Amino acid sequence: MGSHLSCCGSEKVEEGLTTIATPNNATWRIFTYKELHTATNGFSDDNKLGEGGFGSVYWGKTSDGLQIAVKKLKAMNSKAEMEFAVEVEVLGRVRHKNLLGLRGYCAGTDQRLIVYDYMPNLSLLSHLYGQFAGEFQLDWKTRMKIAIGSAEGLLYLHHEVTPHIIHRDIKASNVLLDSDFEPLVADFGFAKLIPEGVSHMTTRVKGTLGYLAPEYAMWGKVSESCDVYSFGILLLEILTGRKPIEKLPGGLKRTITEWAEPLIMKGKLKELVDPKLRGNFDENQLKQSLNVAALCVQSDPEKRPNMKEVVNMLKGYDPRGKMMQTRIESVKYKEELLALDQISDDEHDSCGGGGGRDGGEESGLGVFDVMEVQPMRDPYNRFRDQKMPN
Ligand SMILES: Nc1ncnc2c1ncn2[C@@H]1O[C@H](COP(=O)(O)OP(=O)(O)OP(=O)(O)O)[C@@H](O)[C@H]1O
Ligand SMILES: [Mg+2]
Repeated sequence: MGSHLSCCGSEKVEEGLTTIATPNNATWRIFTYKELHTATNGFSDDNKLGEGGFGSVYWGKTSDGLQIAVKKLKAMNSKAEMEFAVEVEVLGRVRHKNLLGLRGYCAGTDQRLIVYDYMPNLSLLSHLYGQFAGEFQLDWKTRMKIAIGSAEGLLYLHHEVTPHIIHRDIKASNVLLDSDFEPLVADFGFAKLIPEGVSHMTTRVKGTLGYLAPEYAMWGKVSESCDVYSFGILLLEILTGRKPIEKLPGGLKRTITEWAEPLIMKGKLKELVDPKLRGNFDENQLKQSLNVAALCVQSDPEKRPNMKEVVNMLKGYDPRGKMMQTRIESVKYKEELLALDQISDDEHDSCGGGGGRDGGEESGLGVFDVMEVQPMRDPYNRFRDQKMPN
């Protein structure tokens, strides 16, 4: 199968090909299907790195020796085809040391594939509870590096790139780790672009249960602070080694904030730390990070810090990060929502995200459609319905 662009925007994308450079000065390019087929040993199961909402990811090696990760998208229709072209173009323009940029893509007649650099340490999720969980590689310093680097990647998306980008799916499986455990936030290409002057939008809810800001889960109101909320959950995961939603004996499920709330109230901060660290952590940094997490997961989006403030607090530059929060707000999901959270049931999950994901824009029904949208009031009264196409 050839690599001609049957979808829209081919000229523009071609233009991007020659002008856009990655940090190490290599341009991204169009791959042929045959090339990717060969590189991944025919998309063999042995090469499969994982599977997510958009399709499967395969490890591969190009003829010039480059290790790649190939995301093979599920079947597409014309709307999705259009989205793919736009997203690929966006991905190609975004460059930051903590964002997983585009290495290339392939758009054949019935195939859509995205090519990224292969990250040898896979995802944060695989180290916290996946295939690397048994090997202790995430010491305290590494965890702090991952937290700050991920926050810096998000800061860039929210404040530095134009138009601004809301990720909408910040979670441990979307934080990839290079050979030095430097984090690279992935999958922002499928996020929402925010037109200038728009502070928030109303959209169909995408994302992963356990990481969703309440105003987003309930009303589909999306703004940068939804990502801030998800980052707060991610930070708690990094500190505690616990999943955003855990299954208790007897089948009950508990969110990480529900678990952390009483410990923070009682000041039992050391009990929050991942036991795998065996007490090897910096107490001041722990307090600082817990403070930041508590600020990020506040239910009122206006009270949450922005990512610039988060980065400054994590680095110890902002005194707000040092003022101990005496409590953390906890979120409890409805039973019917938790019942749909199948991925977190899998104790040995290596490619899921500690929470169910909706089936993408194409499914029509996200898992959150079961939430009671009508009877609820918007307590913040700040959302006019600036409807954007999904
Ligand atoms: N560039 C990469 N290098 C190494 N491993 C990768 C790379 N991209 C993805 N993976 C692996 O593939 C898995 C699946 O990724 P994918 O993005 O498809 O799904 P996900 O992150 O679990 O869910 P979502 O679809 O919501 O992003 C990841 O958890 C990660 O382990
Ligand atoms: Mg992903």
